[in-house]
Amino acid sequence: MNAGGLFLTLEGIDGAGKSSHLDALQALFEGQGRAVTRTREPGGTPLAETLRTLILEQPMDPLTESLLVFAARRDHIAQVIEPALARGDVVLCDRFTDATFAYQGGGRGFDTEVLSTLERWAQAGRGGQSEVALLQPHITLWFDLAPEIAAQRLAGARVPDKFEAQPVEFFRKVAQGYADRAAADAARFVRIDAGQSRDQVWQQVEAALVARGLAGEGRA
Ligand code: TMP
Repeated sequence: MNAGGLFLTLEGIDGAGKSSHLDALQALFEGQGRAVTRTREPGGTPLAETLRTLILEQPMDPLTESLLVFAARRDHIAQVIEPALARGDVVLCDRFTDATFAYQGGGRGFDTEVLSTLERWAQAGRGGQSEVALLQPHITLWFDLAPEIAAQRLAGARVPDKFEAQPVEFFRKVAQGYADRAAADAARFVRIDAGQSRDQVWQQVEAALVARGLAGEGRA
């Protein structure tokens, strides 16, 4: 499904600083002569961006939230991610399904079995062939930061959306959701200690890419 393409996602609680490394990641891959598709979730298509506004602004129950997030994701996969991977692009995606397990599953306490079902529906191969392997990122950079520090970083930074306005206790559960997801797929996840300086965090990112043969001299 994604011959030659590389699907890289960035994850972490709000305030962990993941998005501030997108420019440098894009420059790194473009410096290798690769085309980069840079996108985000919820969002990445006109429909998914419309759903994002609803998800981030409207109060709703966790099932409604999960259905909307996966509806946005399905459109995003079909319109942007799959075509980009088929072209051989590097897809840099700011959040993907791990965020649903962390925020809706961990933070909201929603049933992760239902989320797994929705994940199969949204990410299985085309034509309803549920036995076809799920579309998943090749590598996920997980920016791990103590929720108390993330809250300090966020305080006063911008007008908080529905999630950013949640108490620290919510983000403890989100962080646990990420930890559970990382433990279940350790080969895909790279834990980045986001408590360090921005330069040190970037060094960790670069080192992870070098270790996987995606950057540096020994690159395949
Ligand atoms: P962002 O601020 O990093 O763009 O993320 C938007 C917010 O949406 C963030 O608070 C996390 C939340 N979110 C979910 O609750 N579930 C999801 O599946 C995704 C992708 C994001």
